[in-house]
Amino acid sequence: MNRNIAVVGLGYVGLPVAVAFGKKHEVIGFDVNEERIKELKGGHDRTNEVEEKELKKADIKFTSNKNDLRDSDFIIIAVPTPINKNNQPDLTPLLKASETVGSALEKGTIVVYESTVYPGATEEDCVPVLEKHSNLVCGKDFYVGYSPERINPGDKEHTFETITKVVSGQTPEVLEVVAKVYGSVVKAGVHRATNIKVAEAAKVIENTQRDVNIALMNELAVIFNKIGIDTRDVLNAAGTKWNFLKFSPGLVGGHCIGVDPYYLTHKAQELGHHPEVILAGRRINDGMSKHIASSIIKEMLKKNISILDNTATILGLTFKENTPDLRNTKIIEVINELREYGLNVSVSDAEADSAEAKKYYDIELKDLDDLDYTDVLIFAVPHRDYVEKKRDYLNKVNENGIIFDLKGIVEETDLKYNQTIWRL
Ligand SMILES: NC(=O)c1ccc[n+]([C@@H]2O[C@H](COP(=O)([O-])OP(=O)(O)OC[C@H]3O[C@@H](n4cnc5c(N)ncnc54)[C@H](O)[C@@H]3O)[C@@H](O)[C@H]2O)c1
Repeated sequence: MNRNIAVVGLGYVGLPVAVAFGKKHEVIGFDVNEERIKELKGGHDRTNEVEEKELKKADIKFTSNKNDLRDSDFIIIAVPTPINKNNQPDLTPLLKASETVGSALEKGTIVVYESTVYPGATEEDCVPVLEKHSNLVCGKDFYVGYSPERINPGDKEHTFETITKVVSGQTPEVLEVVAKVYGSVVKAGVHRATNIKVAEAAKVIENTQRDVNIALMNELAVIFNKIGIDTRDVLNAAGTKWNFLKFSPGLVGGHCIGVDPYYLTHKAQELGHHPEVILAGRRINDGMSKHIASSIIKEMLKKNISILDNTATILGLTFKENTPDLRNTKIIEVINELREYGLNVSVSDAEADSAEAKKYYDIELKDLDDLDYTDVLIFAVPHRDYVEKKRDYLNKVNENGIIFDLKGIVEETDLKYNQTIWRL
């Protein structure tokens, strides 16, 4: 493999990619965020995806200078693909990165996008920008490919190297180069997709499928809650059938599962199809914060626990377990909703950075030792620390209190007094 690799965008996705290649080849690691570059040069990854010793082992030249991309002939782009407040794709970072890469593009280079997009984005949206800023012609002077990232932040088992990598290229020759480059580091091997749009679609439906299935579980949880049966018990019983899919109810935050389906629905609508199932799933999942908050208030009233002048404790603010990532967390919606009912909320998080919680949400995170005794303890995000030390946290709950166990980590046998557990 004689390609000079550069990775543009060194976040949750781009950094592990750069490190994997950097263990075997010399790599250029480019990011517009100079602070991030400084931290990475110092050996620190604030996303906790790469340990300091791994980072030091990788041969990566970290830079914010786009001229450093000129010596690369295999450029991987892994920048964010968010949605705007109207749930429409916001391609700004992707197009900006394409401008940067375009202006440093040399003949013969292959540009591979890893960001999650709708089918068509690479060829219809990104290629014109690359051409404009390079004055080169795609398919003649340079080439594109698409290889979606499938990492799962906080998961040390399913990693860049251990998940089969879907690869695609604009011609069979380009596909072979892309397959070879990724194949040199991905131990699980590569899957050659028929074309770029197929690879783009494959990625976006992985998360759409999860979103819709979680939405079904959330709808069932609302129904079972009204019936008065425990969703977890029902799922355990149904799960004994060989073809019952194992999904559970929960808040869908973050920047993948709750975002990617909107990329697909945007494309569908552009083509004149109004997606019913996908958007219904999105609506259900987006409504779960309100459902959880109102359920907390109802349960408190049932147990005669006062709401005004009382303080609930929330454990976990990040969008999912075992990651410090606070972006697009749905817990903040639960907190705001509870505050609207007049209930105060104390928040703790075993993974998140306090300064970021303050900056993004104006929330002062508390340490375990600073948490007061409470009538209402909400296990919101099952970080490792909460699962391992759940008894220490349960000890903070008053005798008649309620534990809101959003991810099913507490058992009735864990309780000491006349406390109750509410699950989704
Ligand atoms: N995080 C995940 O779980 C995950 C998993 C699979 C796929 N993805 C997809 O991968 C893509 C990247 O996601 P992420 O979570 O790594 O994002 P991130 O926000 O963690 O990181 C993106 C990085 O790109 C940098 N960046 C932004 N604009 C840039 C530009 N114009 N030029 C260079 N660098 C720029 C940012 O400074 C940041 O360091 C998204 O499309 C996402 O949907 C994410």
